[in-house]
Amino acid sequence: MKLPADFTARADEIIARYPASARSATLPLLHLWQETFGFVSGQGVEWIGARLGLEPIRILELVTFYPMFRQAPIGRRHIRVCRTLSCALAGARDLYAELCRRTGAAGDAHGPVTSPDGEYTIEFVECLASCGTAPVAMIGDRLIESANTPDNIEACLGKGD
Ligand code: FES
Repeated sequence: MKLPADFTARADEIIARYPASARSATLPLLHLWQETFGFVSGQGVEWIGARLGLEPIRILELVTFYPMFRQAPIGRRHIRVCRTLSCALAGARDLYAELCRRTGAAGDAHGPVTSPDGEYTIEFVECLASCGTAPVAMIGDRLIESANTPDNIEACLGKGD
């Protein structure tokens, strides 16, 4: 696959910021790859490794360690449901189950699940830093507090956007 010229130009800019250690450009390049292509593919791991002179395993270990990196495509709407203590006590599991039921996404809750039409990806995440308004979810970059009310479930699904 030929990479877009604007992508390679941005990658070059990032690498130039770290003249003492190209390795320091790894995380910014992973973010750039995911922002450009939607997820970090095997090709992305290989390309970044080659560009920085690192073994691909040094790139892959970061992709698998940090939860913000994805190794597979996600739906057009990305819903994250907090499952940490306050949200767990306030009904995060029921909220997750309801969102899965309404979208048709099915899975074991140990990773992202995507609806059959590819519209929604739903996943549990850890604390979203709004514990006082639990349960909390995010759709894209939008925080939804008290997310288990009927109106807010609709908001989680992007209804009315
Ligand atoms: S525990 Fe859910 S936002 Fe903190």
